[in-house]
Amino acid sequence: MSFAELWAELLPIGRDEQTGGYRRYSWTEPDAGCRVWFARTATDLGLRTDCDGNGNLWAWWGGPGSAAAPAVVTGSHLDSVPAGGAYDGPLGVVSAFAAISRLRGEGFRPARPIGVAAFTEEEGARFGVACLGSRLLAGAIDPAVARDLHDQDGVTLADAMSAAGRDPAMIGADEELLAGIAAYVELHIEQGSILDGLGAAVGVADGIWPHGRWRLDFSGRPDHAGTTRLPDRRDPMLPFAAAALAARDAAAENEALATFGKVIAEPGAANAISSAVHAWLDARAPEENILARLVHQIECVAADAAAQHGVGLAMQRESFTPPVTFDGALRDRMVDVLAAAGQQAPVLATGAGHDAGVLAARVPTGMLFVRNPTGVSHSPAEHAAEGDCEAGVAALAAVLADLAGRP
Ligand code: GLV
Ligand code: MN
Ligand code: MN
Repeated sequence: MSFAELWAELLPIGRDEQTGGYRRYSWTEPDAGCRVWFARTATDLGLRTDCDGNGNLWAWWGGPGSAAAPAVVTGSHLDSVPAGGAYDGPLGVVSAFAAISRLRGEGFRPARPIGVAAFTEEEGARFGVACLGSRLLAGAIDPAVARDLHDQDGVTLADAMSAAGRDPAMIGADEELLAGIAAYVELHIEQGSILDGLGAAVGVADGIWPHGRWRLDFSGRPDHAGTTRLPDRRDPMLPFAAAALAARDAAAENEALATFGKVIAEPGAANAISSAVHAWLDARAPEENILARLVHQIECVAADAAAQHGVGLAMQRESFTPPVTFDGALRDRMVDVLAAAGQQAPVLATGAGHDAGVLAARVPTGMLFVRNPTGVSHSPAEHAAEGDCEAGVAALAAVLADLAGRP
């Protein structure tokens, strides 16, 4: 099965015809469609499929891996941000199947099992915690806390999983599954344009910036927009606005990144002062102490502005990923394998989060990036050229053959 064929089958699922973007939230109908696609593709390739207790999907060539015969695993995620691009996540899963199909066609016989994983809720778009499926697998989040996470409509993860026929009592760390993984290699579209600047189709990751999400709840007093005198107002929108501006200033000052990408004003009337504003801060920095300073600066401005306007403020961290340095030996080995195959792959760090970043704490992990000519991601405009996707498949196949070819 070629990359193009596999890609074309997945492309319509969860696509919004108006924006051209994707909305593939976990445990929804588009997610179910992606799961059916995964199972069908794996079965067509003669792979054995499985779904772990956390809802992550697995397909095994000669597996599953075990502590005695651990597997080389590749894959990514199929869920998306709202109005997300086609490539963030699915490129890694489709490339995994295409690479296996290619190796099969070449008559390759793996000396150890090869697995394909599709991790659930990587974006945290529905339940707020990024990389939820891999965090649960790796024991990086308390299952009881995860079960109670809820979406915008108040539906908990436990309820959503139950409705999809999964038992939420089964979520949590899976030591047996982890012990059966010798290495995890995730292929992903680059979410920046460094490779394009270097003229390279494929790169190798060496790390991920520390990053996290914070929720800020500003509570004010709802009132009439046309009659309430300015001094009498307790308008939660004003400290939120101060926080948004502070995020930009603090990010520039610290050479970091800070974004308010999601805001909910309640009750949401154009002619009323809001009763509350809920806002989510996404902050990322090259080092953990810089990240802490960045968030602290934004929090101070938000707190001062809230006090000035008689508004309450509660701030809480919803998720956090410490700095990730991928396995150095695996990184160098991938660079060498690609060089031997005629691909000069630059090594680069990224500010984007990945399941690979979570798994790196538990198993030797690496990443391959595929060129993104505009660098745009988390947007319908995200794109990679088909030739570069093919180069990514070739690179992944070479890496899998190297890692799984020796006993
Ligand atoms: C995932 O794409 C993230 O970096 O938020
Ligand atoms: Mn993403
Ligand atoms: Mn991703």
